[in-house]
Amino acid sequence: MSDRSDIVQVTDVVVEFDGFRALDVPYFGIDRGELRVLIGPNGAGKTTLCDVISGKTRPKSGRIVIDDREVTDWPETAIARLGVGRKFQTPSVFDGLSVYENMELALPAQRGLRGALAGRASWRDERRILALLERVHLRALARTPARMLSHGQRQWLEIAMLMVSGARILLVDEPAAGLTDDETRLTAELLRDLAGAHTVLVIEHDMEFVRRLQSRVTVLNAGKILAEGSLEAVQADPRVREAYLGRGKHG
Ligand SMILES: Nc1ncnc2c1ncn2[C@@H]1O[C@H](COP(=O)(O)OP(=O)(O)OP(=O)(O)O)[C@@H](O)[C@H]1O
Ligand SMILES: [Mg+2]
Repeated sequence: MSDRSDIVQVTDVVVEFDGFRALDVPYFGIDRGELRVLIGPNGAGKTTLCDVISGKTRPKSGRIVIDDREVTDWPETAIARLGVGRKFQTPSVFDGLSVYENMELALPAQRGLRGALAGRASWRDERRILALLERVHLRALARTPARMLSHGQRQWLEIAMLMVSGARILLVDEPAAGLTDDETRLTAELLRDLAGAHTVLVIEHDMEFVRRLQSRVTVLNAGKILAEGSLEAVQADPRVREAYLGRGKHG
């Protein structure tokens, strides 16, 4: 059922690759300010769903509406300007630059350029960057080259870069992969913190992490939505159990 107040609305969307149906979704919506988790076995279509929302992949049919605008045919850059930000599994920070300089580069294009011409970000941008770094526990490392960061710290830097870029809708693919327990806990706290002011869609395999997010879960399997609800409810669903059967990695 379509809920017209959802900030992200994916309606009757079919994605095919060479005739193979990777996604077939009658309706998927995310409420404004919601933190939603997308789970499902390998190849279920999770990344593909993010790809159609961000405009990276065009659906064969169906409609994508973001913030009341139909963006189905929009180029990826226009959807990004609308406020959709993407974080991929591999952090894409610049190793040779400091934490702070990476943040400067992530400023919205115009301000980044003005900053570059002036040799530095404006006073307001600087305050904002430092506040965001504080929030992701990287304030003390602002001058540190990004190559010195731990894997978890790089993930947080990338999330902070998404925020400074002005993204309001964050699509975050497997943020907990390869993190220590402490880093995983902090990442879950950070994402929960972001919800409200941001709308966040998180793809994740790590069930302990998903449990920490305490959010509504959508289960994809073979391109279709199998279940939606609390983690406890979907884990108790026999169809979900069936889909995960024999898949030890995600059990
Ligand atoms: N560009 C592409 N060309 C052809 N097939 C693709 C393409 N992208 C995805 N697929 C196929 O579509 C299906 C869904 O892939 P997708 O990457 O969305 O799965 P996923 O749920 O993100 O899996 P994982 O948990 O492994 O990341 C898979 O069968 C995949 O092989
Ligand atoms: Mg994926």
